[in-house]
Amino acid sequence: MSAHGHGTEPHAPVFTAAAARAELDDILSRYPTKMAALLPALWIVQRERGWVSEDGMREVAELLELTPAYVKGVVTFYTMYHQHPVGKHFVQVCTTSPCNVCGAEDVVNALLKQTGCGELGVMSPDGKYTVIEVECLGACGFATPVMINEDFIDGVTVERVPAILASLE
Ligand code: FES
Repeated sequence: MSAHGHGTEPHAPVFTAAAARAELDDILSRYPTKMAALLPALWIVQRERGWVSEDGMREVAELLELTPAYVKGVVTFYTMYHQHPVGKHFVQVCTTSPCNVCGAEDVVNALLKQTGCGELGVMSPDGKYTVIEVECLGACGFATPVMINEDFIDGVTVERVPAILASLE
């Protein structure tokens, strides 16, 4: 359905494509105000481009008759919107204290090394991965919990990291 941003022009307009425009029009028809469609519109941008660029924010602002500053405020408020390109597999590791004492930091380091990312928040050279640390994922009894895109994996250990990465396309 989407090109997920990588290898495509990140700043190209999203809603000039007929399918994306039709999807937005459908969303708009279900809400009383254009502003109410802001979150789903941004979600379409992220799905199509892999992240939400300043150009993407401007495009949405124009379509929904909002100021770019307002749209940017929303994008920066919600951590689910990426403000820079991320890898195809977006890896979130809980490093809050209960998980940290169970070795979450070691899991993070193993992921950073084996994905080639090297640093938190940086996309791997092959475009496949970005690893970030997050606060409690609500699975404190199952350290270390990791979210890879929409998939939740609990009990991740350093030893399991190679198999988990190998299972990803
Ligand atoms: S502290 Fe890690 S899931 Fe709650």
